[in-house]
Amino acid sequence: MNAIAPKGTALITGASSGLGAVYADRLARRGFDLVLVARRVERLDTLATSLAEKYGVAVRAIAADLSAPADLQRVAEELSSNPSITMLVNNAGVSTLAPVAATSGADIAAMDAVNVLALTTLTYAALPAFLQRERGTIVNIGSVLSFHVLPTSTVYSGTKGYVMNFTRGLQQEVAGTGVTVQLVLPASTATEIWELSGVPLTQLDPATVMRAEDCVDAALAGLDQGELVTLPSVEEQALWEQFDAARLALFAGAMRGKPASRYGVK
Ligand SMILES: NC(=O)c1ccc[n+]([C@@H]2O[C@H](COP(=O)([O-])OP(=O)(O)OC[C@H]3O[C@@H](n4cnc5c(N)ncnc54)[C@H](OP(=O)(O)O)[C@@H]3O)[C@@H](O)[C@H]2O)c1
Repeated sequence: MNAIAPKGTALITGASSGLGAVYADRLARRGFDLVLVARRVERLDTLATSLAEKYGVAVRAIAADLSAPADLQRVAEELSSNPSITMLVNNAGVSTLAPVAATSGADIAAMDAVNVLALTTLTYAALPAFLQRERGTIVNIGSVLSFHVLPTSTVYSGTKGYVMNFTRGLQQEVAGTGVTVQLVLPASTATEIWELSGVPLTQLDPATVMRAEDCVDAALAGLDQGELVTLPSVEEQALWEQFDAARLALFAGAMRGKPASRYGVK
């Protein structure tokens, strides 16, 4: 049996491809042991073997469909009962890019289940031990579609908007506890999600698409720099600050206790 790695263990959801597989590589390189979660267990096993060999860390795969309540519960139990876990990367996500009326009920349910319910349930499972130990990191992967919506991203943007609000609220809750919660908001990144979403990568302007490796490296650099919100592709950090300031001003402007004069309500 391996000794517990000094950095502890990172549990990464959606590690069978794309950003999650890169997180697995980068966190193993940093000395984390890993628990990798996804449905395609053969891919997880191959990755686990190669990362264990490459970096000398312990890597375990859990085959789980996070949209299936029993599987989600199994992963939640791993988080609440494995004392070596110091980091949770809520990365698993699904996307169907189509108008609501043209999206199947199953696809809508999958987006809600994986992007919203699984992320919330796994955070909830990890949090008590992290708070008790005054140590732990939760990385939640949102999207630029957390704050923007296209006519084809109504449901996906809805779920990613949830990720943003949930994560920002959680950041306020854990402030000063020693627990870190990072919100990562990637723009278009070259992964399998595009093909699965119904919009192949070939339909995008290549100049707007980031490499998955670059996205994760930037997100981890942001984490190292203590950023709470990381937008890997945004050059002007001031844009986020202006967006956030406008949000706060709008909220304050709404706290008036009476209808705005333009409605003529006496
Ligand atoms: N690529 C982009 O342009 C982009 C932009 C912004 C945000 N994001 C977000 O980045 C995250 C990672 O996505 P990606 O781009 O790396 O896409 P990806 O390559 O398609 O990876 C998605 C991962 O989620 C897992 N997953 C999906 N459904 C699952 C389920 N029911 N149970 C368990 N695991 C499930 C997949 O594994 P299995 O299929 O093996 O289960 C896969 O490992 C997602 O949250 C996505 O919304 C991506």
